[in-house]
Amino acid sequence: MNIIIINGPNLNLLGKREPEIYGNETFKKYFKKLQEKYPNVNLEYFQSNIEGEIINKIQEVGFSYDGIVLNAAAYTHTSVGIGDATKAIQTPVVEVHISNVYQREEFRHKSFIAPNAKGVIAGFGMNSYELAILSLINKD
Ligand code: DQA
Repeated sequence: MNIIIINGPNLNLLGKREPEIYGNETFKKYFKKLQEKYPNVNLEYFQSNIEGEIINKIQEVGFSYDGIVLNAAAYTHTSVGIGDATKAIQTPVVEVHISNVYQREEFRHKSFIAPNAKGVIAGFGMNSYELAILSLINKD
């Protein structure tokens, strides 16, 4: 089973970025734990701060992989292009957020991805990613 986690802008700073919201753990460390916990899943990771690179990656994997766990970060709320990309592909997308975006500013309540996503997981810290993976593994 091939699952990719795609992280959007500023998520390369996890561990040092607003730790009161996003925690103290680097994504590299968390990702290693995930890979160890799910050895039967071919789990990949991609991060970019650039909208077009995220769209390219979604297109690249979106007709062959079994799942995309997508935290498009701020682009979630602004990017018609990423929203369209999630609509154009066949691979199921699970939208993920570390924080509960619905407890935060109103501009974070809008998502261009959610209408095309299999589901949305928000507010469980880094565990949001694991819950998304479980939702793709236990798909029936
Ligand atoms: C985020 C929430 C977004 O609103 C924000 O722009 C992020 C991270 C989250 O994981 O909680 O960068 O997607």
